[in-house]
Amino acid sequence: MAISTDVPVATEPREPRARVGLWLLMVGLVVMLGGLLFGYDQGVISGALEGIQNEFHLSSTMTEVITSWVTLGALFGALVAGLMADRVGRRATLMLAAVLFMAGAAIESLAPGQWVLVVGRLTVGFGVGVASVAAPLYAAEQAPSRLRGRYVSIYQLAITIGIFIAYLVDQALTNNSSWRVMLGVSALPALFLVVVMVPMPDTPRWLMKVGRRQDASAALTKVRPDADVDAELDEISGMIAADGDQATCGEVFSQKLRKPLMVGVGLAVFQQITGINAIIYYADKIFAAAGFSTPADQAAATTWAIGGVNVLATFIAVAYVDRFGRRPLLLCGLVGMATSLATVGICFHYMDNVDTSNAATTGTGPTEAGVITLVALVVFIASFAFSLGPVVWTVINEIFPNRVRGRAVSVATAVNWFSAWLVSQFFLTLIDAIGTSATFFLFAGFSVVAYVWIWRTVPETKGRSLEQIQLLWDHDDVVAAAGRDA
Ligand code: BGC
Repeated sequence: MAISTDVPVATEPREPRARVGLWLLMVGLVVMLGGLLFGYDQGVISGALEGIQNEFHLSSTMTEVITSWVTLGALFGALVAGLMADRVGRRATLMLAAVLFMAGAAIESLAPGQWVLVVGRLTVGFGVGVASVAAPLYAAEQAPSRLRGRYVSIYQLAITIGIFIAYLVDQALTNNSSWRVMLGVSALPALFLVVVMVPMPDTPRWLMKVGRRQDASAALTKVRPDADVDAELDEISGMIAADGDQATCGEVFSQKLRKPLMVGVGLAVFQQITGINAIIYYADKIFAAAGFSTPADQAAATTWAIGGVNVLATFIAVAYVDRFGRRPLLLCGLVGMATSLATVGICFHYMDNVDTSNAATTGTGPTEAGVITLVALVVFIASFAFSLGPVVWTVINEIFPNRVRGRAVSVATAVNWFSAWLVSQFFLTLIDAIGTSATFFLFAGFSVVAYVWIWRTVPETKGRSLEQIQLLWDHDDVVAAAGRDA
């Protein structure tokens, strides 16, 4: 059944060219901090693992648990975040996420044993998951429409900067194995986020939804002083009335949302099973196996080849996603990812398998194959950073009807976290079972499948209003309707 297009979609109320004042900059800062925390917690474990292993004598399984349960916490965080943001508001949800970060970071850094550390990882993860839904939502509802795209990109950029900072911290502390400091440091930006949030208002849209028009008016005036407040609030309340009752969770899985849900969930899964977080988390170990023999060499390779390149290549997407479109970036990125992953697979075919218990310590420096592995991983990270990294989040946030967007994005985000968990939980096990080379060939194979699936299924959404995007789902061949090269 076709999606009804009678319901007005989320066209932003009319607005003059608002100047970006202090409070709007503060919204950007909030989004930045949310992304930084997300990224820092994704990246920090790579350098902290060795110290933790040395102190707690972890088994391979426990190493995977400590690495990956942050994503398990994030999965549950993302699932409840949509509901929470509707109940208590976007602002309170974000503050809660920051408090969870702080609590989790404190538990991690003070953990007397491995299981307490796992509790800390889960707590931090829960905060990451809540923030991964609440921060883009807060940005999207606070920013004027002409800046909305940029605010979502800022979020992904902040994630990559967070990962990069985590690698720098890891690198700075690599010699004295100060893993407790590495993990504890994230409490600081979290505290900063709480402080920044104190004077920030909730979004006018949420305040209107709970019937607080006066507060909504004050919030809008504060963040966007140039806005025509009464006209905007009238339009928001019109949209809320037209949306009807709150969508139920079941509605997200209804027949009429089948196509966008498949696209959203499919993109979320492919973003992860092509291996990004195996590399983000286990970069040091991969470089160790590739012959980077000292922890300092491994940390340097991870910081610059993975962390630095990830940040830089994200700017390509920020600059070109609205000009070239989503499909060209996704497809082009996947070609780079598949090729580089297969190259890593070939290199490992000629090298020893990853030593899953500790870094290789032969001390002879990287072999030729090791250097090629490094170059291939740089190509992989760059290809991911201008394609699947940011574009998946952009598309997920624009394909659902307004009425169910929050819940549907929550579901797609949770699936993304689940896939991230699967990969990071079983990466080392997979290497033990089938070898490093075959594992990278598997990621390469998934990239090829992703290419074909995106080519056939994901419509171009560039330059279309949200309303026009909804109309696309009525067509049997959604991709053709949107124009393959739009
Ligand atoms: C992904 C994360 C990943 C990050 C790397 C994000 O888009 O969702 O799982 O760690 O990109 O930059």
